[in-house]
Amino acid sequence: MTLLEVRELRVEFTTPEGKVVAVNDLDFSLDAGDTLGLVGESGSGKSQAAFAIMGLLARNGTASGSVRLEGQEVLNLPEKVLNRIRAEHIAMIFQDPMTSLNPYMKVGPQLMEVLMLHKGISQARAFEGSVRMLDAVEIPEARQRMGMFPHELSGGMRQRVMIAMALLCQPRLLIADEPTTALDVTVQAQIMSLLNELKREFNTAIIMITHDLGVVAGSCNQVLVMYAGRTMEIGPVDDIFYRPSHPYTEGLLKAVPRLDAGGEELATIPGSPPNLLRLPPGCPFQQRCPRVHDACRRVMPPLTPCGEGRRRACHWDWEAKNGE
Ligand SMILES: Nc1ncnc2c1ncn2[C@@H]1O[C@H](COP(=O)(O)OP(=O)(O)OP(=O)(O)O)[C@@H](O)[C@H]1O
Ligand SMILES: [Mg+2]
Repeated sequence: MTLLEVRELRVEFTTPEGKVVAVNDLDFSLDAGDTLGLVGESGSGKSQAAFAIMGLLARNGTASGSVRLEGQEVLNLPEKVLNRIRAEHIAMIFQDPMTSLNPYMKVGPQLMEVLMLHKGISQARAFEGSVRMLDAVEIPEARQRMGMFPHELSGGMRQRVMIAMALLCQPRLLIADEPTTALDVTVQAQIMSLLNELKREFNTAIIMITHDLGVVAGSCNQVLVMYAGRTMEIGPVDDIFYRPSHPYTEGLLKAVPRLDAGGEELATIPGSPPNLLRLPPGCPFQQRCPRVHDACRRVMPPLTPCGEGRRRACHWDWEAKNGE
């Protein structure tokens, strides 16, 4: 069943220098229990897309289009309704746990508050529920940790507390915005496998935001590659990995560390993303694209179906290339 349906999502910011379109015509859907990887370099619009879905845009931002959660339109709902939906149906975890944790409050009461407020349960039951959730995110000695302040925990533990908090009301959708970038590689791997287990246990759908295609390989079934606010390509994870069909995806893949590559240096895509205030006509990737030709400088390629569950926005003749 379709859990989330995003159609023509557009996010615009008004700035003193002019209008910035941070998300342009985003279109995807997600089934219950699915994981979608939202991938792209810094500034491509990943977080703003998530914030628009959550109703958390900055004051100078507006969102248009449609975001349906189980058929109900949730875009631009009044704050009061959104607050309920955010706690009970969609939750978000941020790159920096301190964005959602109160540094002056012990971990336990912060978790209990969520349960008491949204589930209307007693303090005693909220305590037990919180301990159970800390157990579920594999925090050792959960009962004792309830009485600790966030700063008394390690970075990885804080991230787990935040995941616990996000899952307390058993949301149907969890948006994880670069949940592991601040952590070292071993802890990153632990958190990713934890999210995968929790997904299975609670049947939560996940939108995993990351700039690292390597992270999505093991954990997502669908990948959406974003650049300058636009979808460059979307499809099943294996297709994107083994048969990329967009020069930007090819570039990102070359930047993924591979076990079989020995000590070779990682390639990066030359150049940097365009200034959103001065986007050229045509494809936003044209200045950095090794396959650029005339049409790319004139017309933005439409997002076109190219196989099962797969769409791409590129003028290059990929079928001819694959037949080579
Ligand atoms: N309040 C704002 N006013 C104007 N522009 C904004 C505002 N917030 C974000 N932007 C712009 O929107 C664009 C997309 O930002 P976004 O935060 O979604 O990037 P991102 O893909 O999440 O990048 P990162 O990987 O660095 O987190 C950026 O160019 C950013 O400068
Ligand atoms: Mg971001």
